[in-house]
Amino acid sequence: MTTAIDYEYWTTDAHTGETIPQSSSPARIADMVALADIEPGMRVLEIGTGTGYTAAVLAEKVGASGYVVSVDVDQELVTRAADLHKKSGNTHVEIHHADGTTGRENGAPYDRIIGWTTPHVLPEPWVRQSAHRAVIVTPVKIADIANAHAVIRCRIEHGKPAEASAQPGSFIEMTPEPVTDFGQPLRYVDSIVTTEAGERAWISISGHSVPPEQADAITRQLAAAEPQPEWIDPACWREFTAYMLGTLSDGTPISASTGTGQGFGFTTSDSAVLVLRDGSVAACGTAAALATLRGIRDAWERAGQPGYDAATVAFTAADDGWRPSLRY
Ligand SMILES: C[S@@+](CC[C@H](N)C(=O)[O-])C[C@H]1O[C@@H](n2cnc3c(N)ncnc32)[C@H](O)[C@@H]1O
Repeated sequence: MTTAIDYEYWTTDAHTGETIPQSSSPARIADMVALADIEPGMRVLEIGTGTGYTAAVLAEKVGASGYVVSVDVDQELVTRAADLHKKSGNTHVEIHHADGTTGRENGAPYDRIIGWTTPHVLPEPWVRQSAHRAVIVTPVKIADIANAHAVIRCRIEHGKPAEASAQPGSFIEMTPEPVTDFGQPLRYVDSIVTTEAGERAWISISGHSVPPEQADAITRQLAAAEPQPEWIDPACWREFTAYMLGTLSDGTPISASTGTGQGFGFTTSDSAVLVLRDGSVAACGTAAALATLRGIRDAWERAGQPGYDAATVAFTAADDGWRPSLRY
């Protein structure tokens, strides 16, 4: 998709001349907006105004007969974006300072909701504020561990998400306050240690009930392990790790950083594995987790290396929304 909206105009900080760190890449934005199938006249709720660029793209798509409501937790960004929209004559865009997990009641129902920041579940207010057969496109967690994100597209029917699909994609986590450190996951981390090489290593263990000293020990052991190379093709890392998280029946999902590499894996009672982005595997403890991982990789290969497009997105009702998971 090409757009006439000037990316530099929206994303350059007038004071520093630098690109505002919250800016997403224009190609990623174009993909997400295309997924949302926005038509003239629609009412769109945007979560995560950032620079205001995406609201400008959405405003162009809905045209003068449509409307865009956009919210962000960062008051400074909201003020800046609202000012730029005013200067651009976008009278059909309104921008509010708010925590987007509650959506924006005043303006509902929406034909489309598009998120640029990752909630831990598909928030119930978004579903409630959707018109019948509305489409939501948003990153969301696919497991309760740091960085386990996918972009989902779902249609809302009879007050529930339906007809959902997933694709790879990761955006910063939703937080109740603005953040400036985008380098580390902020939530879901069970242990952070400094390795002997002086690197920061961390682990996030599904369920978050492992005692801290045990979480520290696994983090240290994974960081110290010599990674076993060429477990999978790094080009397939996202697809394989999504499949692993979606099919794992014997182990507890983890995401972790060894200080030099990040990945997803799982723990058993006496072992752990981590599939790193370069396709190698760090392992510790007995050989149990490695054996399970080998079985998952064999099944994935036999199934033709299914990617996100082969996954079914299932939603489970949670207290504050709908928890998606990928099933194969
Ligand atoms: C990737 S940036 C958005 C990029 C933006 N769409 C643009 O065009 O520049 C994610 C934004 O989500 C915002 N955010 C994070 N948590 C939020 C929350 N709970 N509610 C609303 N916005 C939130 C951040 O402040 C940040 O501006």
